[in-house]
Amino acid sequence: MATHVNALAGDGPGRVVKYYKREFWIQENQRHIPAHYRLRKLARVITKVAGGRQTDLLDVGCGPATLMKLLPDNISYYGIDIAIHDSAPNLLEADIVDVPIRFGRKRFQIVVAQGLFEYLGDVQSRKFADVAGILGRSGVFLVTFTNFGHRSAQVAEPFNNIQSIQEFSRSLATHFKVTKSFPISHTWRGGQPTRPLVKSANMHCSLNIPYVSSRLAVEYGFICSRAGVSGR
Ligand SMILES: C[S@@+](CC[C@H](N)C(=O)[O-])C[C@H]1O[C@@H](n2cnc3c(N)ncnc32)[C@H](O)[C@@H]1O
Repeated sequence: MATHVNALAGDGPGRVVKYYKREFWIQENQRHIPAHYRLRKLARVITKVAGGRQTDLLDVGCGPATLMKLLPDNISYYGIDIAIHDSAPNLLEADIVDVPIRFGRKRFQIVVAQGLFEYLGDVQSRKFADVAGILGRSGVFLVTFTNFGHRSAQVAEPFNNIQSIQEFSRSLATHFKVTKSFPISHTWRGGQPTRPLVKSANMHCSLNIPYVSSRLAVEYGFICSRAGVSGR
């Protein structure tokens, strides 16, 4: 596993980044139609961030837009994905490796990117800049990233952007003010929690536990605001 991680890491010359395209994702995303653990946990965080206010939210890499069904009515949901399943006016099909992340001329109070940046190889920094450009003045960017330092990190075949959580966080900080980072779940075997008790414990705990989280946190969430803007 470690060899695989090392082989993919870094930006050196000769690094070949393979991107999976629509024909792959339209099939793969069938698996994300039922709401999985991370979507449910992030829906709670988003609901809290929106705080009951009328909020426009853009979900980048929205897949089958399952998150939309988990959010309260005060959040107007928009989604972008390379493979949109059921077309709708609030969903845009676009390959964001090739085109900027944007939805017409709209600006958003919340932009979410869950389980996406693992697939954005050498365009990560450019995509952070795109998001910074469409965030409203007091907007919030909520992004997740896999902890490849997990004792049993699961490296999926299409991942092309392997790096440590510290590197990811440093890169984020060049575009945003990172206001909070938190483990989305801790599991011994890696992968999202599946057992009801483990799920329930993780759903309510987002604590960074010294020495433990670095090896057992499966993914981290980051709450970011626009650099140079304070408060909501
Ligand atoms: C692992 S899935 C995550 C889906 C959803 N956000 C979730 O958390 O369940 C990654 C998503 O990113 C989308 N994606 C991958 N590459 C993309 C690209 N170049 N442009 C737009 N979307 C892309 C895929 O279609 C897929 O929906």
